[in-house]
Amino acid sequence: MHSNLFGEHFYWGASISAAQTESAALLDGKGLSIWDDFCEPKKKFFLSKHRIKNKHHIQESSDFYFHYEADILRLKQLGFKHFRFSIAWSRIYPDGETLNPSGIDFYKKVIDTCLKNNIEPWVTLYHWDLPATLEKKGGWTNPEIINWFELFATTCIHSFKEVKHWMILNEPSVFVGAGYFFGIHAPGKKGFENFIKAMHHANLCIHHIFKVIKNINPDLKVGSTFSFTHIEGLNQDVKHQKAAEIADTLINRLFFEPILGLGYPTEQLKIFNKKYFNLIKKEEELLKTPLDFIGIQNYTREVFKHNPFNPFLKIKQIEAHKRTSELTAMNWEIHPPSIYEVLKKINNYQSNIPIIVTENGIALNDQINDNSIQDSQRIAFYQSHLEQVLKAKNEGIDIQGYFAWSLLDNFEWAEGYYPRFGLIHVDFETKHRTIKESGHWFREFLGET
Ligand code: GAL
Repeated sequence: MHSNLFGEHFYWGASISAAQTESAALLDGKGLSIWDDFCEPKKKFFLSKHRIKNKHHIQESSDFYFHYEADILRLKQLGFKHFRFSIAWSRIYPDGETLNPSGIDFYKKVIDTCLKNNIEPWVTLYHWDLPATLEKKGGWTNPEIINWFELFATTCIHSFKEVKHWMILNEPSVFVGAGYFFGIHAPGKKGFENFIKAMHHANLCIHHIFKVIKNINPDLKVGSTFSFTHIEGLNQDVKHQKAAEIADTLINRLFFEPILGLGYPTEQLKIFNKKYFNLIKKEEELLKTPLDFIGIQNYTREVFKHNPFNPFLKIKQIEAHKRTSELTAMNWEIHPPSIYEVLKKINNYQSNIPIIVTENGIALNDQINDNSIQDSQRIAFYQSHLEQVLKAKNEGIDIQGYFAWSLLDNFEWAEGYYPRFGLIHVDFETKHRTIKESGHWFREFLGET
């Protein structure tokens, strides 16, 4: 397979995010983010509990802050022409309200390096690293978040004029679900009330910030990215199909349909259809947003079955390791048709908004031997997933680009540093970089024919 099958104008890129790669957490005026705090052990009486596997800490990640020039050159060497990265909010506004000019300077240098090398920057405004001071005021559960975000976004749009492609939020379903419902991601909040508030504010934020950016410059291309997992029922039995529908509503639809103007899909979630749902349903007409592109991020499929013992939703997830041995280092199932199914599903909404795959990739426990990393499983993953993307595109779905996750090995949130997603290996002690076989594979795939 060769990339030219996707057409001349297809955007090929690789993605990273600020918090996962930069390090330099307190350098040049940066403030703490919720992830800096979340990596600190939580003290309870005389005990302290680490919330990140192996006590890993986000502050010792891939040093992109110091290596950005060489990393962008590596991205170019692999044949990519587009680079998706995010801006650390707490580098620009360390306390949420006081501007830090050094933060602006850093991203100006990153953007200039891209442009000098004919790499198009695609910038995500929010990839999960809220300034810690704003979380003290309630974070995403406080409606003020929309004003705080407006200040940050406006500064970025005015300061980085060369950037033509912007993404407002990265995967709201994940940062809201994991961070404000299950408490397994920063800021570690739990419960239904936090979840509903954070979800609604995230949706309002996409809508409002889209308008703010377009008012500054209507020519900018403004999208947002959504996590989409392919969900199946255990088998064709109606009750398992119903369980899959409920899971799909919670995981995918709640965070996507309001933006398309379809309102909150609460019919499956009657059990929750109380106080908070009633409140947010009143504002659902406010959420329709004519995004310029939809960023889709898919990694796997999940299977659900009916479970009469679950008191609320009556569903149960069947974990991947109980049904297959085709697993990644995240214990996620490798299931290439998932990405095709997800793309078809997005297309069925008939929104007429182009789709860009802004993340897709695989975590492995890569080993370095004689300065090389033979990650043939990653190559097979990309090949098989790209075949599925091509199939969807050839069926007429408007897919305009594909970004691999990730350019570099990095901090995989609560999982720490062991699951490696990069096309480029990072030695986390020395910060030395080595291009993996999969990186070389991309160079050929994207190269001249
Ligand atoms: C996404 C997220 C990325 C990365 C990836 C792999 O949900 O946007 O930051 O962690 O998953 O797990």
